[in-house]
Amino acid sequence: MTKVASVGDVPSGAGKVVQAGNTALALFNIGGKFYALDNRCARVGGPLGQGKVEGTRVTCPWHGSIFDVTTGAVVGPPARRPVATFRVKVEGNEVFVELPG
Ligand code: FES
Repeated sequence: MTKVASVGDVPSGAGKVVQAGNTALALFNIGGKFYALDNRCARVGGPLGQGKVEGTRVTCPWHGSIFDVTTGAVVGPPARRPVATFRVKVEGNEVFVELPG
């Protein structure tokens, strides 16, 4: 697993773009639980980690697609494809993400 942030880096109810090796991820803190998605929106790559978070949903800052941060599923258009999710582990004050491969 790759360390991507400290717990205090992402306030509850917010997201942040983090780097795991060469991969940009969108890391979210939803009520103290962390979730990681591919940072690139499934439409044309908008930075989901900079999107507005409401409940468990994030709105892409570029054209407004909405994704469920817990599953990567599309909840609102124009995106039609989901974004990849990554397993997250919190150990002490550190947040780790498991990258494929
Ligand atoms: S890039 Fe995300 S909605 Fe357009």
